[in-house]
Amino acid sequence: MLSNRVVDRRTALKLAAAGVAAPGLLAASSNAPRLSPRQVPRFAQDLPIPPVLQPERVGGVDAYVVTQREARVQVLPPGLPATPVWGYDGLFPGPTVVATVDRPVRVRQLNRLPQDVSVHLHGSASRPEDDGQPTLPIAPGGERTYHYENAQRGATLWYHDHADMLTSRHVYRGLAGLYLLHDPAEDALGLPSGPFDVPLVLQDRIFDVDGRLVYDDAGGTEVFGDVALVNGAAWPRMTVQARRYRFRVLIASNSRPYLLGLSGGLPMTVVASDSGLLERPVRTTTLQAVMSERYEVVVDFSAVPAGGSVLLQNLAGTGPMRGLLRFDVVRSRGDDSRVPQRLSQIDPLVAAGAPVDRVWRFSHRADGVFVINGRPFDPARVDARPRLGGVEVWELRTEGPGFFHPVHPHLVHFQVLSRDGAPPAPYERGWKDTVFVGEGSVVRIAARFAPHAGVYVLHCHNLVHEDHSMMTQFEVVTT
Ligand code: C2O
Ligand code: CU
Repeated sequence: MLSNRVVDRRTALKLAAAGVAAPGLLAASSNAPRLSPRQVPRFAQDLPIPPVLQPERVGGVDAYVVTQREARVQVLPPGLPATPVWGYDGLFPGPTVVATVDRPVRVRQLNRLPQDVSVHLHGSASRPEDDGQPTLPIAPGGERTYHYENAQRGATLWYHDHADMLTSRHVYRGLAGLYLLHDPAEDALGLPSGPFDVPLVLQDRIFDVDGRLVYDDAGGTEVFGDVALVNGAAWPRMTVQARRYRFRVLIASNSRPYLLGLSGGLPMTVVASDSGLLERPVRTTTLQAVMSERYEVVVDFSAVPAGGSVLLQNLAGTGPMRGLLRFDVVRSRGDDSRVPQRLSQIDPLVAAGAPVDRVWRFSHRADGVFVINGRPFDPARVDARPRLGGVEVWELRTEGPGFFHPVHPHLVHFQVLSRDGAPPAPYERGWKDTVFVGEGSVVRIAARFAPHAGVYVLHCHNLVHEDHSMMTQFEVVTT
């Protein structure tokens, strides 16, 4: 399956119109060979932290302006060439928006790129017209202002491109950034904060020897890099004090799954998932996280002797893709943070054994197209009409061998009820917006369809699958 290039007719037409010829180099003019990951020094550059975007205060709303443009950024360690990217404000990842619960935000997005774009705030209960739907693009030279009410739980959200059939290429080129929705009520918990609250955006990329990104989607199935990036830097290092840190981990890879673990078996305490705080902290040494999932973990480095180091690893990766980031531990200057035994209240949405309202089957059709309930994405079709304010139980099934699918419905936050009849992992028992559905697996989720009516998409968050039609629409209806 990996060798034949699979493109359905709608995709082929769209890609031709967008000037995308074939998989391979994003920069059309290069024939440079691929950069071997062995030529990239590991843990040779400091972990960058994406800058926080500053708003203008306009009539009770925080107003931001972002320009999507091309830029050259130093992703590879100094000494290796800079990389041309498409970035929000020319940054990779984009600038971080720090928003506050119940305080509205608007973001004016200017498209100074040569293709259609669309900006989705992943995890936000946005109105349909502010949701960055693939059907509502911003044309080159155009702009659009998105409104976010932020009337939801505090959480680590992220914004990324969602252009019709171009999402994977655009995100790969750099169009992704963090949106931290802060709940002031959380401050009393005493979790590590300020400089000890650190985002980790995990990605993977292929480079050529000139530093350009190489996009190889293996015939329209998946795109795996051979260089690990954290916050847009290849294999960085970070100096940490021998104390507690809160890390906000975002899996922003297009196709790569992660099984996170720290070297030496140092434990991680999971405090939050996609849609905010868990009810209670979950201590673990391994954490499975797939594309678009967010987990917030507290790591206590106080047991590590000063001068020691700890690797953040992807235990599902091989060779150099196992080690992602090296923490170099120095003496602590004091730590008054803590992890309370109770973080938030999470009430079950449905009773145990609640009946299934809808079934969604995710499969790879014999003709190579990724489909949901047997059909490819059609922007003119709606496959479900949940009622506004109603709760539904959805069963998500993957069929056929070879692929897992992280499933993401827009608008809602859900609870994971079961996986293959068993309870989900303890750290999956909070509110989520993306769930791992493994090969041949059955996952049940429950969601309340609110607060907005209208048409939203449901799709696989392997962005290659999404672009190759594994997307559908539901309409939240009032009657
Ligand atoms: Cu992060 Cu429709 O996706
Ligand atoms: Cu998929």
